[in-house]
Amino acid sequence: MKLAVPKECRPGERRVAVTPENVARLVKLGFSVAVEHDAGAAASFGDDDYAAAGAEIIAGTREIWQAGDIVLKVQPPAAHPAMGVHEAELIREGGMLISFLYPGKNKDIIDRLAARKATAIAVDQIPRISRAQKMDALSSMANIAGYRAVVEAASFYGRFFTGQMTAAGRVPPAKVLVIGAGVAGLAAIGAARGMGAIVRAFDTRPTVKEQVKSMGAEFIELNVHEDGEGTGGYGKEMSPAFIKAEMEMFAAQARDVDIIITTALIPNRPAPILITEEMVKGMKKGSVIVDLAAENGGNCALTDPGNVVQKYGVHILGYTDLPSRLAPTASFLFGNNLTHLLADLGGASHFHLDLADEVVRGALVLRDGELLWRPPARPPVALPPGPKVVAAPVAAQAAKAPKASGVAGPVFALIAAVALVGLGLVAPPAFLSHLTVFALSVVIGWQVVWNVTPALHTPLMSVTNAISGIIVLGGMLQLNGPLTSPVVLVGAAAILLATINIVGGFMVTQRMLRMFRR
Ligand code: NAI
Repeated sequence: MKLAVPKECRPGERRVAVTPENVARLVKLGFSVAVEHDAGAAASFGDDDYAAAGAEIIAGTREIWQAGDIVLKVQPPAAHPAMGVHEAELIREGGMLISFLYPGKNKDIIDRLAARKATAIAVDQIPRISRAQKMDALSSMANIAGYRAVVEAASFYGRFFTGQMTAAGRVPPAKVLVIGAGVAGLAAIGAARGMGAIVRAFDTRPTVKEQVKSMGAEFIELNVHEDGEGTGGYGKEMSPAFIKAEMEMFAAQARDVDIIITTALIPNRPAPILITEEMVKGMKKGSVIVDLAAENGGNCALTDPGNVVQKYGVHILGYTDLPSRLAPTASFLFGNNLTHLLADLGGASHFHLDLADEVVRGALVLRDGELLWRPPARPPVALPPGPKVVAAPVAAQAAKAPKASGVAGPVFALIAAVALVGLGLVAPPAFLSHLTVFALSVVIGWQVVWNVTPALHTPLMSVTNAISGIIVLGGMLQLNGPLTSPVVLVGAAAILLATINIVGGFMVTQRMLRMFRR
């Protein structure tokens, strides 16, 4: 199976879909890889690097598009400025494309690909779930954008980020406000703290407070209480009252801070305007605003997407190509995301698009020209109980609860109660107390697991590790009879399974810690 990597044609795009390092891994997965001549040049990867990693170099855009069973790209296909043809029309009939596609706003591109009977996977549609983190190109790019936003801010800000006490005088540290502590916001906090600035952050999702604090920033809280937690780790749209209170706070902050980095966004909505012209006017001269939400309209009223505006002595940066400004790293991480995706799809030997797989179904836009986007809605993620969410679902459930389940519940409970009383009469007393503990732990375990949002699965893992530890102890206490005794066998099986769980938990934790180590 052959992968083809064309040179990106969007003006100013420096990234390439795979780097030589990625090629080596893709070859190990059984793919052969063809790369267009000079595809990686703008990201500092030469044809010779690709060839050394095992790629074939092909000259000619038309030739590279035709060469691959699967075309790997960063940007959605576009009209090729040099060739006068749309890239989507260059794909092989029945070929496959994996790239950013944003199907919600690119109907024309999807139609063109459908006319070629193509299969198209949009990496921007990969659901943000724990299992798919390694393929989540949006997060990879947002992480880079957050870091780069700070670098760009520093280049326009005429002072140090860190405070200094020198013989010549004292220089105060810069104050940075980060609005929206999602992937990009947290990366910006990390970079600004690393450079020595005082960092404050605000987000509508109170769950990010601990993350913000753990990165050394101050989390600003409002008196208005409204939970901004949406589904899948994204925010939700806030009420006008909340936005008003939030903007009053921003107005006060704008007068105090030197740099504002805005990243506030709700998926599939235009970005909310949070920094008004009045607030910009109130900022100190020489201040900088970096508006990461520029591509979706911007969080600042004065943002000009793609450009830098200078007004009231404040620079407002509306760059929409921040990941491309860090092209080698962005290409490497994007290529890694694609490599993980291709490995998950079975590699070259077992390549298969499994529609039952939530990740594949979410990202599959076209299959042999047939439109599959949008995927059917996933069942809502269970949220931890809170004042806002309790009332409505209970009322709604009561209204539409099927009659059968209304009867089945009490009947089942009655049967269970009778069975329990019956058992109590015949079974030894120790059995009954063990059974009660067992039943309670099943109920509590069920409730704990199903009420934890995906974002908290990692901390949940440490809880399960602790429980596994208790199981190992319990199992060991039972190992005091002959090897053939059922109690000993069950105890040994419990020890084995719990140990696998503990070791697996430590390995995953170790991997996560490595991600944060410098
Ligand atoms: P995210 O969804 O992880 O984070 C957005 C955060 O904003 C969420 O935590 C959400 O709760 C918060 N938020 C929403 N409404 C808010 C409000 N009214 N007040 C305060 N916080 C609010 O998104 P991610 O991946 O971090 O991306 C952030 C932005 O960066 C997006 O607009 C994205 O399009 C943009 N981006 C820009 C790039 C560029 O080159 N300019 C490159 C990559 C991403």
